[in-house]
Amino acid sequence: MKSNPKTFHVKSFGCQMNVYDGERMAELMAAQGLTATDDANAADLVVLNTCHIRERATEKVYSDIGRLRKHARQQGHDPMIAVAGCVAQAEGDEIVRRANVDVVVGPQAYHNLPELVAKAAKGEAALDTDMPLASKFGKLPGRRKVGPSAFLTVQEGCDKFCTYCVVPYTRGAEISRPFAAIVDEAKALVGAGAREITLLGQNVNAWNDAEDHGLHGLIRTLDRIEGLHRIRYTTSHPNDMTQGLIDAHGDVESLMPFLHLPVQAGNDRVLKAMNRAHSRDSYLRLIDRIRAVRPDIALSGDFIVGFPGETEAEFADTLSLVDALGYAQAFSFKYSPRPGTPAADMADQVEAEVMDDRLQRLQAALNRDQHAFNLASVGRTCDVLIERRGKLPGQMLGKSPWLQSVHLIGDHAIGDVVTVQLSAAGPNSLTGTQTLRAAA
Ligand code: 5AD
Ligand code: SF4
Repeated sequence: MKSNPKTFHVKSFGCQMNVYDGERMAELMAAQGLTATDDANAADLVVLNTCHIRERATEKVYSDIGRLRKHARQQGHDPMIAVAGCVAQAEGDEIVRRANVDVVVGPQAYHNLPELVAKAAKGEAALDTDMPLASKFGKLPGRRKVGPSAFLTVQEGCDKFCTYCVVPYTRGAEISRPFAAIVDEAKALVGAGAREITLLGQNVNAWNDAEDHGLHGLIRTLDRIEGLHRIRYTTSHPNDMTQGLIDAHGDVESLMPFLHLPVQAGNDRVLKAMNRAHSRDSYLRLIDRIRAVRPDIALSGDFIVGFPGETEAEFADTLSLVDALGYAQAFSFKYSPRPGTPAADMADQVEAEVMDDRLQRLQAALNRDQHAFNLASVGRTCDVLIERRGKLPGQMLGKSPWLQSVHLIGDHAIGDVVTVQLSAAGPNSLTGTQTLRAAA
């Protein structure tokens, strides 16, 4: 039996939605009177907010639990360990069997974390992986102090069932949070210091409500919030890119010229086997339409190499699509069979060495394009939102509208928006030289 914890530490893995969920869990535990600590090894309660998207992410959880327990034993400390997030959802019972944890809580049930912690403190089993119809959001405390760039979950879950992906199983069906709740949370975030809000959803551009506002309607409303300078959204599916949303990229000033629009592969047979429900050509035409209204938009994406049955010629189609589009940045992964997904049972799983080789070639192309995009930005004048201090004296770090990291020297506060000229570019960041004004 463990006593009631007084301090806690939340460690989030994986996607931005997990980061958001981690913040909300931290707020929830703070509202219960617990104190946050940065030191996972010293906390009475450690929440591991896990990711199940690829195998390595899952294995990390088990090794983390092992490391925490070992370290704690050496210190004569016996922390309570809670596993949250998508591994908790997918492997709840197995975690309890395989690892020594006290609480297991799924992504749709974490509003119950305080109750589960109280149960565990009494030595009772504390596992909740329900996906209740009533949303957790209404049961969470309000937003407190946040940084200049904040996340706001507006949509969760996925009905697309791409054949490789666990998300429809771990996060459940697509649901959109109500319009008013989102606008209220956005205002609270701005009140708490946010200058930029990134709207989050597994299929964020599928967000909608009974009044058919669509994500673009929501963005146009948020655009009117005083003090909110920047709006972003992620992650999107090509088939939910409505004309309304494309138009918003053309005329909503606070909507940043950046779009994360995963394509996964460039070959139609592979896209079909992935159940992506779009073709190479429809994706290319979609990007043309978006670039027509916002020529400078920075395009980002996700790619999977080595999907079952992918041939060298099919992989070459991914490379040629990348060449044709010039991504400003992108994430690329080796296919990882996820238990329970259709692709895991497909014939012709691609050998590890072949996947390694393809990933290397794809990443070389993506890195080249990212560097090229950064170099092409040199000379541009743009606003930079200052997010933190840099390592050098007087150095500040912020983001350009195109989500590039920008270093600059100047006496600025975190949250300032500074107009700079981009004066030099590396593969991963740029240097800005202040030109005109510093506006709060
Ligand atoms: N294997 C490899 N990558 C995957 N992704 C999702 N599922 C898998 C998988 N089983 C990638 C996709 C998705 C991103 C979040 O993770 O590219 O867009
Ligand atoms: Fe997964 Fe596909 Fe849904 Fe994205 S759209 S979360 S890749 S099933």
